[in-house]
Amino acid sequence: MLKAIYPGSFDPVTNGHLDIINRAVELCDSLVVAVARNSEKKNLFSAEERIQMLSSCCYKDNNKIEIVEFGGLLADYCVENGISVIVRGLRAIADFEFEYAMALMNKRLAPAVDTVFLIASNENSFVSSRIVREVVSLDGDVSSLVPSCILPLLKKRLRN
Ligand code: PNS
Repeated sequence: MLKAIYPGSFDPVTNGHLDIINRAVELCDSLVVAVARNSEKKNLFSAEERIQMLSSCCYKDNNKIEIVEFGGLLADYCVENGISVIVRGLRAIADFEFEYAMALMNKRLAPAVDTVFLIASNENSFVSSRIVREVVSLDGDVSSLVPSCILPLLKKRLRN
């Protein structure tokens, strides 16, 4: 039974995240999509809101996917929950340095847990939550970059 985790801020979830989730779930028996509560970033949405967005818009009907919130170290969460693989998406070379350091640190903290990288699909290779937030705040159109149910929530939060 291969249990994997896809951790992130998901602030908000984008089509790039969905691409990774859809491909990762095919590679494992179960996938935990884990929303970081105490990410160092200052988030636009609370952890509860980010979980709600992921669950209500995306995955409520897929019983291989569980959406959780986590605090503390990702490595500890993996060990405590029998997770052997961490999935991360790689968009560009620019992602690599941070991801490399994180993978090695997680390996040191939890030697039985490996990190697997999925290369973002071409059409999503430039999409990030940060870019989506900025474009929405300046009244730009991101309808092809985020799930449709996310759009109204984003506009409400950023344009008020
Ligand atoms: O979507 P993000 O912001 O790139 O995700 C980063 C995240 C949340 C996966 C990373 O910051 C993380 O794992 N945070 C949990 C705390 C932790 O374990 N930190 C040490 C990582 S080596």
